[in-house]
Order: sequence, then structure tokens, then C-alpha cells
Amino acid sequence: MFSSDTYVWRRAELRRRVTRGGIIVLPGNVESPVNYPNNVYHFRQDSTFLYLFGLSLPGMAAVLDIESGEDILFADDLSMDDIIWTGPQPSVAELGARCGVRDTRPLGKIKDVVTDAVRRGRKVHFLPPYRAVNKLFLSDITGIEVPALSNHISVELALAVVSLRDKKSDEEIAEIENACEIGYQMHTTAMRMCRPGVVEREIAGAIEGIALQMGAGVSFTSIVSQNGETLHNHYYGNTLEEGRLLLVDAGAETVMNYCSDFTRTMPVSGRFTERQKDIYNIVLAANARAFELSEPGKLYRDIHLEACLVLAKGLTDLGIMKGDPAEAVDKGAHALFMPHGLGHMMGLDVHDMEDIGEKYVGYDLETQRSTELGVSALRMGRRLQPGMVMTVEPGIYFIPAYIAKWKAEGLNAGFIDFDRAEQYCGFGGIRIEDDLLITENGNRMLGKRRVPATVEEVEDFMASCRQ
Ligand code: GLY
Ligand code: MN
Repeated sequence: MFSSDTYVWRRAELRRRVTRGGIIVLPGNVESPVNYPNNVYHFRQDSTFLYLFGLSLPGMAAVLDIESGEDILFADDLSMDDIIWTGPQPSVAELGARCGVRDTRPLGKIKDVVTDAVRRGRKVHFLPPYRAVNKLFLSDITGIEVPALSNHISVELALAVVSLRDKKSDEEIAEIENACEIGYQMHTTAMRMCRPGVVEREIAGAIEGIALQMGAGVSFTSIVSQNGETLHNHYYGNTLEEGRLLLVDAGAETVMNYCSDFTRTMPVSGRFTERQKDIYNIVLAANARAFELSEPGKLYRDIHLEACLVLAKGLTDLGIMKGDPAEAVDKGAHALFMPHGLGHMMGLDVHDMEDIGEKYVGYDLETQRSTELGVSALRMGRRLQPGMVMTVEPGIYFIPAYIAKWKAEGLNAGFIDFDRAEQYCGFGGIRIEDDLLITENGNRMLGKRRVPATVEEVEDFMASCRQ
């Protein structure tokens, strides 16, 4: 974890930003059973709890008192029975000292503090709970019925947490760079292993193993698929075939749970066909355009649309789209080929703070998620600010069922050559994703070295592994 000063500063700053007063209640996560209570999923602490306390252990909660400035950490010291099974652990008092909290109490005591605040008419701030068990916990300590919890979410707290977490400090950026280095190792391993006859699962297992060897594991379930047109494809059973493309979308968490998220698409044969190269270079140009344009003050929605314009121009040059590309993007016609957004924030979550609510994280009073085709899938549309970390992940996908649907409905028929698009069914999909930091004057790509990205870099890297 960072030094205790970091966590003391973050909590003081959060208290300062929640001007309405009251108490802030922060439940950490608990172990979650797979198939019986003692067989648990990999433990993942809540990211806001991690941000404010840095403690990655189950069974903790905290209260920040805005008026008094006091922080209380609630957790139980281990019993001898626990120690027999889990080994010795630091005392709760010691854990508190690591993050600058002097007042530590047993977990069961949090209810008294919250009940007292409710009795005095003080505002009890909490974020939207995303795990059922924390809904029950919050309901128990606040007295609010579970279905009513969503009516009591503190918007002020949500905005304050987002305003802190959305700008990464230098020490956080260094951690994200470490996550990117793990990502580099994962993706170059995939390139090394990718060849005809290999089963997707072999690559998925190897790269997820690297995430565990070098950090805290993957930042999301890896996508390793020859059918890259299926956006979140978690099936790993295909045997790689000559002439196909393999799409790998994968990232890691450092031991402090900062994330990376990269996507590369590579030719199973080691060399792209001319047809694959044409599509690949359009996606790469859209990725480069986003890096060219991203700077403080720009709406990420506009950068998404500029990247989509590059896609539409390229697809028009190939005769897959037609008409004026700018008009096509205006009507959302590019969404047939890229039905997702350009990117999302990244930090302690791979989709940073998505639990808090997209309207506070990716949008604001100025920008709201549109329902219009072409922008409706964009997770983040608001203005960029120095310190923000974003993914840039344009793609082109040929989804047979989607092409058939648009064709049958005649949707954007003036901008799509459906017969030509159908010729690409079976092509798969291409996505190229890098991570970007907004700096004072522009942006910088994260990662000490970029995962091979151009056609030449990917082919040369794959060739060097086959010698
Ligand atoms: N890399 C997976 C996602 O962004 O959804
Ligand atoms: Mn992503």
C-alpha cells in the first residue's frame, strides 16, 4: 500500500468535498462463496474502500465523520480458530495505523455509530451497493429496507468520490504503468503462442497465469477468441486455424489492484492477409486519431465521434460503407461495425467507478448518455482533465446477425453496402486498445513499452518467436 499520508489526505479531502455534513459509511467487501461457504472466489476489495484505506482484507467497514473529522475503522481481530486456518494476521489496530486511522472498533459496533447518527438527524452518506451482501449490511445498520436503499444513495458523496478518484496522482500512475507492464507480458505471450492448432484456452490460461505471477490476477475475464466479432466472448474452446484472426482483450491488476486493459488482434498464420491488413489499418488509424486529439477540455464523446469518422472513411474507401462518411457518422451508421464506445476510465477498476454510476463518472450536468445510434454505447462522454486515465479501443466487427438485421430493416441503407458487408461475414473482428493518461497539455500512452501494434510490428514480433 502507499504511505499512510496518502490515505489520510484522501479521506480529509473527501470529508472536505462532502459539504452537507453527516457521516460517510463505507462497507468493504467480504468473502464470496463459490459452491459452499469455505470455498470462496478470489477476494477483491471494494475499490473506494481501497482508495481510502488501502486495506485489502475481507470483513472491514468504516465511518468518516464529516463534522468531527474522525475516521473509524471497524473489523474483528482474528480468533485462535481463525489463526489456525489463515495464519497470523496484523491486529486491526496495526492495520489502522498503516492507513492513519487511530480509532478501530469491532465490526459489530458500526451499527451503534450509524444508529446514533440517524437518531440525531444527521445525514448518512453511502454509495450504491453492488453486492447483495452489502445491501443487507447497509440495510441492517441504517434501518432502510433493501428495496429502498437506492432512494437514499448520496449523490453528493458519489460526486465527491468521483472528483477525487478520476484524477490519478503520480504514485497511482506509476502503479498503472506497472499494470501495463504485466499487460505487455500477457499480450506478447499471446502473440508468441498464437499459431494454427493451438486451442484458445491454452493462451487464455497462460496469460491469466502471468497476471497472477506478476500481480493480483486479471482485471477482468480475458477475451481470447478467434470469433472476435463477439465483443465479450469468454468461450475458449476453438482451435486456432490458418488464415483466421485471434482477438485478445486482457489486462492485469497489480498487487495494489491498479489495472491495465489492452486489446490486440493478430493473424493466426503470423502474417495478415491483404484483406485483414486493410481493416486492421483502419482500426489502427482510429486508435491513433484518438491519441492525436485527446487533451484537457475535449469532450471524450467528440473524440469517439472523430475515431468513428476514421472508421467510416476507411470502410467507405473499401466499398463496405457508402455516401458521405461524416453524414454516416452523424446518423450512427458506423455502429453496425463498431457497436461499442471508444473507451472508459481506468484505475482501481478496469471500468473505473462503474459501480458508483455512469451518470456521475462518464457523464455530468453538461453531457448525458445519448440514446442515439452511434453514441449510445459510449461509457464516458464528458470533458477530459489532466490526470484522467482512459482506454482507447476502436474496433471493426462483422457480426452476421447484426448485418442481417440492419439489412432486413433497411437501417441506414444509404450508408451501407449490405452485399459487400456480407462478404465479410466470417472475417471476425479487430480491436486495438491502448491506455492513455491526460497530461497538462495533451496525453501520453501508458506503459513503458507499447505492445506491438502496427502490422509490421505484430508480424515481426510473431516471426521472431517462430525462429
Ligand atoms: N476490456 C474489456 C472492456 O473494456 O469491456
Ligand atoms: Mn476496455
